[in-house]
Amino acid sequence: MPSIFQKAYAFFSSLPIPQTRIDGWRILITGANTGLGFEAAKHFAHQGASVILACRSRDKALNAKAQIDALLGLAPGIITVSIVDMESFGSIRDFASNVGPVDGIVLNAGVASEIWNVTGDGWERTLQVNVLGTALLGRLLLPRALERRKEVAGSGTIPTISIVSSQMYQFAELKRYMKIEENIIEALNDESNFGMGESGLMTLRRYSMTKLLEIYIACELAALVPKASDGNPMVIINCVTPGFCRSDLLREYNLPLLGLWKALFARSTETGARTYFHSIVDAGPKSHGKYIDNCKIESLPKKFFKTKEARELQSKVWDDIMEILKGVEPELK
Ligand SMILES: NC(=O)c1ccc[n+]([C@@H]2O[C@H](COP(=O)([O-])OP(=O)(O)OC[C@H]3O[C@@H](n4cnc5c(N)ncnc54)[C@H](OP(=O)(O)O)[C@@H]3O)[C@@H](O)[C@H]2O)c1
Repeated sequence: MPSIFQKAYAFFSSLPIPQTRIDGWRILITGANTGLGFEAAKHFAHQGASVILACRSRDKALNAKAQIDALLGLAPGIITVSIVDMESFGSIRDFASNVGPVDGIVLNAGVASEIWNVTGDGWERTLQVNVLGTALLGRLLLPRALERRKEVAGSGTIPTISIVSSQMYQFAELKRYMKIEENIIEALNDESNFGMGESGLMTLRRYSMTKLLEIYIACELAALVPKASDGNPMVIINCVTPGFCRSDLLREYNLPLLGLWKALFARSTETGARTYFHSIVDAGPKSHGKYIDNCKIESLPKKFFKTKEARELQSKVWDDIMEILKGVEPELK
């Protein structure tokens, strides 16, 4: 793992501007109406792809499409809009069943909140959107990506799914959750385990935990992918962090000096979104099952991923998630 100085240097260095042409590619991005997803849609379209903006609000998605069309002077049909609410298993199921061939999928939609909210499906909102919803959509789209691989065989393209995590995973309360014997996701769905602290970063515990679980999900999904005859995965599944960016993600937090922190230490969302382009287009097969930070594959810290306890936690988290998802999604049985 790089030292803190190497990481700081990498963070403040400029990230590569997307160069690779991807004419004819179809890219799907969840949560593409604003923030990083919106900027990523612009990068992909600028490099020649058609892009599906998968959003929960049709109006917001159409507004985003109009902006991108006008900015890039795109023909009708390059940017399309599709509706998915990551807070609803039913919406994810309906959406996934209508997804056509795609070459790149960015599971970007995410929330961060210090407010305990419960979705219509009965789950704490951060947990459902970031963890259960992301795992369900990733799992349902994997067979579609494998079908796409057969369609594009010989072209050199390997369909890629990138799950958006965050470097905040490092603040997850690992030891607390390693002790839980019951279903971990159900345990996290108890308000007394919401993890709100007194102030500052402590209030981001729930968000941090969900971002750790997203890395576990990416690793476990990657393990499901068969290899092609050339030894490469049939589909690439990786995990990416865009770094700290000046989006509105933390709108539901009351964090003192957040504006100053963003002004001093955050990237623009345009810069952060370059990491998504890299993870889908440029990272390639060696990024399969890996975590990408600053457009570089990073080896993950032992404490969270390599000790016997951490490996057991990852495997248990996946089993617990699948137990829940099999209960709501017949296709997974
Ligand atoms: N900004 C950062 O510093 C940073 C750092 C590391 C990782 N990330 C990750 O980057 C991703 C994007 O964050 P952002 O910074 O761009 O935040 P953002 O500006 O708040 O965008 C979040 C996107 O997710 C969508 N979304 C939220 N709940 C949804 C739901 N139930 N169904 C469908 N879409 C939903 C939002 O749609 P609405 O507009 O309808 O709410 C919005 O399009 C997140 O996964 C975040 O964890 C961000």
